[in-house]
Amino acid sequence: MGVLDSFRLAGQTALVTGGSRGLGRAMAFALAEAGADLILVGRDYGSLVLAQMELLELGREIDIFVADVGTPKGAADACEQALGLEKPIDILLNNVGGRRADVATEDVTIEQWKGFFDLNLTGALVCCQKIGKPMIDRGRGSIINITSIAGPIAIRGIGGRHYEASKAALAALTRSLAADWAGRGVRVNAIAPGVFATGPNEKWFAEKPEFEASFLGHIPMGRFGEPAELGPAAVFLASDASSYMTGATLVLDGGFTLW
Ligand SMILES: NC(=O)c1ccc[n+]([C@@H]2O[C@H](COP(=O)([O-])OP(=O)(O)OC[C@H]3O[C@@H](n4cnc5c(N)ncnc54)[C@H](OP(=O)(O)O)[C@@H]3O)[C@@H](O)[C@H]2O)c1
Repeated sequence: MGVLDSFRLAGQTALVTGGSRGLGRAMAFALAEAGADLILVGRDYGSLVLAQMELLELGREIDIFVADVGTPKGAADACEQALGLEKPIDILLNNVGGRRADVATEDVTIEQWKGFFDLNLTGALVCCQKIGKPMIDRGRGSIINITSIAGPIAIRGIGGRHYEASKAALAALTRSLAADWAGRGVRVNAIAPGVFATGPNEKWFAEKPEFEASFLGHIPMGRFGEPAELGPAAVFLASDASSYMTGATLVLDGGFTLW
């Protein structure tokens, strides 16, 4: 197999949570360009249909399901719907997550804290269980968890440390699942994005313009990432190009965490 062939995903199916917008959508496009059929999950049907229509132009099969993977039950429902297609799922991209609230740690309620952990950690765990088990049975699969540079470091100037804590926990889950499943043919890796100008960050920047300037000043490359720049990393981790890699995190942050 030639080196570029090892990146090809023809004949494979990827389940992408939050594949209708933002980073998930960009990575879904890349996986489809590499040949994968897709199953996209999101809460808003209209956004899913829009993504589906654009992706269908690539000539792949694109299924969409409405589900809230920010709750354990919603995540389980999403997986049941996807498994109901009775197509083997080769790739799981756990992309849904977010900070959502700028709340000081001394003020966060336990209810809020648990909800954010469901969104950033437990939803991904449930998907790993439901989709990972059939992968183990088949002896083959690649799981990619979207963590954040906010896992290993605290982002300056914003509250909501449920985000740092839950993304760090997702990184730890990635490593331990990778160890547990390595001998059973399932690889588990992570991508830790830096700052990308998707909806949530645009909202923060509109609310706190000084925050945008401070972020830019902290990025050695001097710019935010383009969502499409995550696509090749997702294809790499999904495909045989990374066949000897498990438990790893690819950091794509323009150098944010170097200083
Ligand atoms: N953007 C960044 O700079 C950045 C940096 C580091 C890490 N990340 C991580 O990257 C991931 C994607 O971030 P993003 O900025 O692309 O977010 P986004 O622009 O808000 O996109 C989120 C996608 O997920 C879906 N989604 C959100 N909540 C959902 C839920 N509870 N259930 C099902 N689908 C849901 C959205 O569709 P619906 O709204 O229709 O459900 C949409 O398709 C997150 O895990 C985030 O923490 C982002």
